[in-house]
Amino acid sequence: MCGIVGYVGDKPALPILMDKLQMLTYRGYDSAGVAVSENGHFYVEKTKGRVSDLAAVIEPDRATGSIGLGHTRWATHGEPSTANAHPHLDCTGRLAVVQNGIVENFWELKQELIEKGHHFKSETDTEVIAHLIEEYYDGNITTAVNLAMQRMVGSMALLVVHKDEEDRLIAAKMDSPPLIIGFGRGENHVASDIPALLRYTNRIYPLEDGEIATIKRDDVIITNFKEPNTPRLYDRKVMVVTWSTEVAQKEGYENFMLKEIHEQPETVDATLRGRLPEHGDGPVRIPELNLTPEEVQRLERLTFVACGTAYHACLVAKYLFEQALRIPVTVDVGSEYRYRKPMLGKNEMLVAISQSGETADTIASMREGMEQGAKVLAITNVLGSSIARLADGVLYTRAGPEMAVASTKAFVGQLIGVHLLLQYIAQYRPIAPEMRDQIIALRPHLWRLPAQIRHILADTTQIQTIAQKISTKDACFFIGRNMDEPLAREGALKLKEISYIHSQGYAAGELKHGTLALLDEGVPVIALATQGSVYDKMVSNVQEVLARHAWAVGVVQEGDQRLSSLVGRENIIEIPKTHDWVAPILTSVPMQLLSYYGAYALGRDIDQPRNLAKSVTVE
Ligand code: F6R
Repeated sequence: MCGIVGYVGDKPALPILMDKLQMLTYRGYDSAGVAVSENGHFYVEKTKGRVSDLAAVIEPDRATGSIGLGHTRWATHGEPSTANAHPHLDCTGRLAVVQNGIVENFWELKQELIEKGHHFKSETDTEVIAHLIEEYYDGNITTAVNLAMQRMVGSMALLVVHKDEEDRLIAAKMDSPPLIIGFGRGENHVASDIPALLRYTNRIYPLEDGEIATIKRDDVIITNFKEPNTPRLYDRKVMVVTWSTEVAQKEGYENFMLKEIHEQPETVDATLRGRLPEHGDGPVRIPELNLTPEEVQRLERLTFVACGTAYHACLVAKYLFEQALRIPVTVDVGSEYRYRKPMLGKNEMLVAISQSGETADTIASMREGMEQGAKVLAITNVLGSSIARLADGVLYTRAGPEMAVASTKAFVGQLIGVHLLLQYIAQYRPIAPEMRDQIIALRPHLWRLPAQIRHILADTTQIQTIAQKISTKDACFFIGRNMDEPLAREGALKLKEISYIHSQGYAAGELKHGTLALLDEGVPVIALATQGSVYDKMVSNVQEVLARHAWAVGVVQEGDQRLSSLVGRENIIEIPKTHDWVAPILTSVPMQLLSYYGAYALGRDIDQPRNLAKSVTVE
């Protein structure tokens, strides 16, 4: 995720661009930049840090032009730095580009452009766009952007200004990243999200996949590079929004947690894209993992380390890697690992998982692993974070900034990261052909997840009803077996941290070893039963629960019969049908929603629960 903004009109562009960028900081805040064009000259300023850091270095008197663009970054290619900050210019310095998204074939295009004599100044995929447009430029910037879009593969939204055509901004969109045009009087605006536009206009048009807009101060023409020769005017589709600026920042959601839950389809798609082939058994590409086939072949054991929710992603990894690859896996919480004098051999690898990339206990565990000579990898969401810099190789989850304290989309990103690591390692391990086929067969299930998550989110009525009932209770238990066991723990953690209801997650088989003593009339027990291999055992556990007159809720894959008739349809939460190993990714969504609506019913401060912080940088 990044935020991009543009302006063309009759006023100085710079203050308007800065104001709009400020409204978009929730989309990214590791670096920022602007470019304003005036009389054939660009004023370009960029810096590492937040939009406020950019504000401290810009010189408004040097930039009075009325056309420009800006960017606030959440890094995906190249660490946060001034050189990697947008806008990026071509070799001649005549055109400037900002982008939100990923150019999947950037490496191939970059080699081609270098051979043609182009010089690159950054490590970003975006700079490739600037040089590619330069290559096609022949006096018409719209045509050049159109041709460049046809060469690129990926998912992106971009804005371009050329000094020789200073009366127009070009906006283009491929696949999912949003890009909205805002129509003013004698001026027009562009931004990644509606909130940045509302101070200027409430008349908007969200670009669709494949569209290129040529935006002048009093005219907008939209064409589609996927369907050439169909120019049309915008006015057929202008929408009028009635949001306040504050509501709009959360895109109409009441808080960031709900917004982030709804962003999960995008997280899955972005994290898989360019790495896992959508069809067939082609190679998995994660160059930043820095992991050679020889290292994979020598691998004798994996240790996963993390804290909190990220630790639950590690537990899923243990079930997955041991069952699919027969590689022994150890899992630890960071705060224990570093003090328990762990033993690591030289053919072992440590994988740290962290949303923020700054968690002190996880960092200390990585150092411990390094001291023992192990290769250390990281799965993290924040490019250039301490954990990313420390690791020998990194797999970035592309969830974008997570603002709510309770982790939701980052957890889903971590589970996708774990699956990608499995797919990557599997391609270099000598494994039985049937197991290899099974691992390859997971791919279509992973690619189906965005649509399936949307399906869960489309109707949450039953989950809301159950959550409201839980909110009236003093305690809640979550139970599961196999890969549902870590999800039971995650469901309990989510519920307790934002609703303050005491909740515990257990291996279902452990109930009879103590916890059953706590079950009584009406005590809620959320039984996760998505794993076919242990389904019968879960049914027995639910019978034990019902025998104590507790209230059992079943979480099952679509089409379930037995558990549903046991607990009653009104106490069933269904996830769409999927492979058992992929199910935890879908199960995490109802876990988040139960805690969200439970906390909501109790009137809790959902985004900032008491006593907690988003990034835990102390021991
Ligand atoms: C719970 C939650 C925390 C974090 C934990 C680790 O919703 O967000 O448990 O998962 O503090 O943080 P990261 O992933 O940043 O290392």
